[in-house]
Amino acid sequence: MTSKYENQHAQWEKEADQVTERFPERKSLFETSSHITVERLYSPNEIDKTYMDKLGFPGQYPYTRGIQPTMYRSRYWTMRQYAGFGSAKETNERFRYLLDQGQTGLSVAFDLPTQIGYDSDDPMAEGEVGKVGVAIDSLADMETLFDQIPLDKVSTSMTINAPASVLLCMYIAVGEKQGVPKEKLTGTIQNDILKEYIARGTYIYPPKPSMRIITDIFAYCQEHLPRFNTISISGYHIREAGSTAVQELAFTIANGMAYVDAALASGLDIDQFAPRLAFFFNAHNQFFEEVAKFRAARRIWAKIMKEHYQAQNPKSWKLRFHTQTGGSTLTAQQPDNNIVRVAIQALSAVMGGTQSLHTNSRDEALALPTEESARIALRTQQIIAHESGVADTVDPLAGSYYVEKLTDNMEKEVTDYLQQISDLGGAVQAIEEGFMQREIHYAAYQSQKAIEQREEIIVGMNQFKIEEEVNEELLRVDEKLEKQQIKKTQSVRTERDAIAVEQALNRIRKASQQTTINLMPLILDAVKAYATVGEICNVLRNEYGEYTGM
Ligand code: 3HC
Repeated sequence: MTSKYENQHAQWEKEADQVTERFPERKSLFETSSHITVERLYSPNEIDKTYMDKLGFPGQYPYTRGIQPTMYRSRYWTMRQYAGFGSAKETNERFRYLLDQGQTGLSVAFDLPTQIGYDSDDPMAEGEVGKVGVAIDSLADMETLFDQIPLDKVSTSMTINAPASVLLCMYIAVGEKQGVPKEKLTGTIQNDILKEYIARGTYIYPPKPSMRIITDIFAYCQEHLPRFNTISISGYHIREAGSTAVQELAFTIANGMAYVDAALASGLDIDQFAPRLAFFFNAHNQFFEEVAKFRAARRIWAKIMKEHYQAQNPKSWKLRFHTQTGGSTLTAQQPDNNIVRVAIQALSAVMGGTQSLHTNSRDEALALPTEESARIALRTQQIIAHESGVADTVDPLAGSYYVEKLTDNMEKEVTDYLQQISDLGGAVQAIEEGFMQREIHYAAYQSQKAIEQREEIIVGMNQFKIEEEVNEELLRVDEKLEKQQIKKTQSVRTERDAIAVEQALNRIRKASQQTTINLMPLILDAVKAYATVGEICNVLRNEYGEYTGM
């Protein structure tokens, strides 16, 4: 900016200071959730002169403005609501309801026993069957889950990590039963074990065997499921654990690099597997910080893939991501307020160029969503898409002095963290050393303290409170479900060919210690014989042991 404007800016600051004598500013320090200072005003002076070079055009390296040239002008983001509860039948009904209401992708929430590799009749599953997601024990459940849903017409995300190989094989088997070949299946498995160690907890095996299973999935999908995304490298749960936006981005990207390193070490070619790596981020309340986070994420990952790993295929450089609005920002108090929070968070994801989006429901601080609250959440996305106009031009906030400066700041802070993690030996070592966990816990403590001291206002919770009458109609999972599910799985066991199952499980056991054998074809045979999630996971538990936490 020329000195003429610098003088004008300095003059303006003086005038603003005079005003604050009578109207002092609300805070002495304004900052984002990542403690990046927020200035009173941004002007061309703050913007790096080379910013146009750093931005690139949409669909061009380094993709700051989006990974597709025309973005939502050609195709809206996928409206992909995370759903699942009770039995496969109930969840299938919810899936078909949401598709009828206009959602454009599926996203399966599994119950905890499934996520940790236990069958519904395992003592460890007691009380949790169908509670936080759908109970899936065998291929029979998976067939019910996708009944009347054509797998060649819809993409399905599965939030499954330690048992991801088993559920993916069940999905393949359902596709075959529908006459849909593997090559046509589209979707994503989360398959991100590192963030489970850091923040979410649904791990089973120690890091080394876990990484082997993950790279087996990469290799298998590269050959047989070319349209399936093999991993959803997640920052969502890291943020939900209390991290800042910068930590969310930094720790996710560091985990992404660890997966790339593991895949390369297993002999895979980067330009073969990298195009099918995907990401998953959170969208919290600070609108501009979230937009800047998503824009910085694309630029950072593109540079790492092109410059650090020397990937040649532009598809390897593109960071494609799903966003879920921040579950931890929802309040139990005045639940209707959550509709407004989710709308603002969803808008930040769209203005940040997300490829797929889940919007939380107003009642999810209290229970799984009712049909009505799930519909309002979907309608929120549809109103943003069809009524707000924000999807009609690409990266509309580009050129904003504040957004560009904040994007640069985010990039710098994240890059500093990545260097720290690299100095510790990379993400796996940093996790084993407890570095990421400590950083997150401290950030969570800081944030909670700010809320308790009312430095951070949560409307309806620590200010603007009302006398609440709890007349909320909440979704309740029928207590009878557990017994019904157990009965169903036990009848699958009696009807199947026990010898075939035993032989299939033995083949997995024998191969488990031979890293040159890909486990996926063996797991596929086992699920087709109606071996269960628990039985397959238990074979690997016996071979690999269970991880007892870092
Ligand atoms: N121009 C040209 N092509 C375009 C386009 C455009 N404007 N827009 C889209 N396309 C193309 C894409 O390139 C793609 O084609 P390809 O497959 O041949 O590359 C196709 O259209 C589909 O588009 P996307 O891939 O962008 O959209 P998807 O929705 O299929 O995939 C994703 C998005 C992020 C890559 C994918 O990984 C995904 O769907 N992830 C979802 C993950 C998810 O839902 N997770 C939920 C987790 S819930 C959880 O963990 C929280 C709980 O624990 C609380």
